[in-house]
Amino acid sequence: MALIFLDTAKLEEISEAASWGILDGVTTNPTLMFRAGTADRKTQTQRIAEIVKGSVSAEVISTDAQGMIEEAREILTWSEYVYVKIPATPEGFKAMSVISGWPNGRINATLIFSPNQAFLAAKAGASYASIFVGRLDDAGLDGMEVVRQTRAIFDNYALDCQVLAASIRHPAHVTQSLLAGADILTMPFPVLKKMAGSPFTDAGLKKFLEDWRKVANA
Ligand code: G3P
Repeated sequence: MALIFLDTAKLEEISEAASWGILDGVTTNPTLMFRAGTADRKTQTQRIAEIVKGSVSAEVISTDAQGMIEEAREILTWSEYVYVKIPATPEGFKAMSVISGWPNGRINATLIFSPNQAFLAAKAGASYASIFVGRLDDAGLDGMEVVRQTRAIFDNYALDCQVLAASIRHPAHVTQSLLAGADILTMPFPVLKKMAGSPFTDAGLKKFLEDWRKVANA
């Protein structure tokens, strides 16, 4: 079964989605912490983990391997649910290769824009390869094709890394990611809300209730 993650650090959005019973995890990044109005990554991540009781990704700020490794050592103690987000750079792959050797070395390789970066993330021991579909589309490229190719490569070699479709911008990205075989989809709350309903559902429900009132009051 594909997993649904929310791409936000806002607690009210996470609580609402969790109450629907379909939320498997949450991804955050420094921009999303900024939008949630907090610089206290540890407390916010722990609060998120308490709500979702599933995978929560928290990103390193360092850009050198040693700094990432030191940050990861701390981040991974914040909660049993935490995955440390490491960028797909040469320094990032160096850090991933070390962190993945730890007993609690759960890694979400982030900022992936090509199947080759995803392949390196899997080789370096990441649990998730986060492909930024929307940003690829923004650049005039085909984000979903990167998801499809990564899926095929991971399947060809039975790589133990999950394909995570990130930077999802609209419900069509969700459907396309599912068809492309993504293991995990992370999306902003407005996209989740849109995929949960339809104007046709609302119109159909309105008509059913109108007709019911007519017959009930007859
Ligand atoms: O999970 C990655 C995501 O936060 C990036 O999304 O919309 O900033 O490209 P976006």
